[in-house]
Amino acid sequence: MTDVQTAPTDAPTIVPLGQVPPLGVVPEKMHAWVIRPERFGEPVKSFAQEEMPVWDIGPDEVLVQVMAAGINYNAIWAGLGEPVNILKSHGLDFHIAGSDASGVVWKVGSAVRKWKVGDEVVIHCNHLVEPGTSDLQTIWGYETPDGSFAQFTRAQGQQLLPKSPDLTWEEAASYGLVYFTAHRMLIDRAEIQPGEDVLVWGGAGGLGSFAIQLCKAAGCRAIAVVSSDDKAEHAMALGAHGVINRKDFPDLQFRPDEDEERKKKRFGAMKAFGKKIWEVLGEKKSVEVVFEHPGRATFPASVWLASKFGRIVICGATTGYDLTFDVRHLWMSQKRIIGSHFADADSAGRANKLIMQGQVKPVLTETFEWKDLAEAHQKMYRNEVYGTIACLVGAPRPGLKTYDETLAVMKEAG
Ligand SMILES: NC(=O)c1ccc[n+]([C@@H]2O[C@H](COP(=O)([O-])OP(=O)(O)OC[C@H]3O[C@@H](n4cnc5c(N)ncnc54)[C@H](OP(=O)(O)O)[C@@H]3O)[C@@H](O)[C@H]2O)c1
Repeated sequence: MTDVQTAPTDAPTIVPLGQVPPLGVVPEKMHAWVIRPERFGEPVKSFAQEEMPVWDIGPDEVLVQVMAAGINYNAIWAGLGEPVNILKSHGLDFHIAGSDASGVVWKVGSAVRKWKVGDEVVIHCNHLVEPGTSDLQTIWGYETPDGSFAQFTRAQGQQLLPKSPDLTWEEAASYGLVYFTAHRMLIDRAEIQPGEDVLVWGGAGGLGSFAIQLCKAAGCRAIAVVSSDDKAEHAMALGAHGVINRKDFPDLQFRPDEDEERKKKRFGAMKAFGKKIWEVLGEKKSVEVVFEHPGRATFPASVWLASKFGRIVICGATTGYDLTFDVRHLWMSQKRIIGSHFADADSAGRANKLIMQGQVKPVLTETFEWKDLAEAHQKMYRNEVYGTIACLVGAPRPGLKTYDETLAVMKEAG
């Protein structure tokens, strides 16, 4: 007896994109977008299309036919080779990125009880180093080499969550990483309470779009920080109480080469920004929670702007991870800095239920074709993305919601 259901011997070597082999039949190879160290650089340089062997799976694992993949900033980091060469974490000389997917379970390991071939799923990216013995996590598709930018992806059974039948493949693939992270940051780590006010950096970005929705659902007022009028509109449509355009406060950004004069200007800008918060709230009060991820450029302001006993919850550092801030503002006003990193299966499951119930909505703003996956990342790198974006992988066109519907369209196309 083998650990997994075995594919028939007449499995095709490789299947063209936009087609699938019979359910449960696993080809030898798959189409994938691959990062290699010799190509490290901006996304259009680091990603290349290759034919790769389909993954073998172990007893705790599943193989999923990817219908659509969500696009996240972590694949940009992986391709840049910064701030770390992530290939060193798995030891292979190639990396298939992609930490969000929707698709169909194609093969199931012998120890996986909850899922079967044919189930329609989304995948959360909390990959356990030793399932069952430790909650130490790595991020699937970032610290593991088997992510969703390929026809087939390998994940642990515990990473699967049900796909909402109301969502298209691309919508379902678009929310997991950023939404589950934002949910963990605000609900589990900062423990936001009704009546609190929350400053959300990047209010029109991936994390921020969900932070706004979660604040609203929790009875909090979200003040979204954005950099354009279009993004302001997007944030307000998601339920922000108000918006601040950070371009009106250019001196607020911390720069590592700061001299005394610039520091003075930055403090002036922070004060003006604080007054803008009062204006948005309609009262002279500070925010209890700051939702942080830009990092170096905004962190000193975040610490300063949080109220007495306030919380600064942080999960990322887009503008730089070596942070400088005046610690007196932290201790004198007894504020707390809270680190947060993705989510565990329980937290992701609770967050996914809100999606299934329609209480939180995906914020997919653009769907890319497979051939444009590197360009989609380049667009995110240029900070030209609102909400979240996704790429079709197995799905032959946008708008499809179920495997049966997808097969019918594939058959029609021949
Ligand atoms: N640890 C984790 O589990 C985890 C999970 C998800 C994401 N992250 C990290 O969190 C960061 C954000 O991810 P995301 O998916 O939300 O990215 P995103 O969709 O690109 O959004 C990032 C937002 O940051 C804002 N921003 C960029 N430069 C800024 C600056 N200098 N000052 C203030 N705001 C700035 C931009 O908004 P405006 O230009 O409109 O202000 C942008 O919308 C990334 O570094 C990512 O790697 C970490």
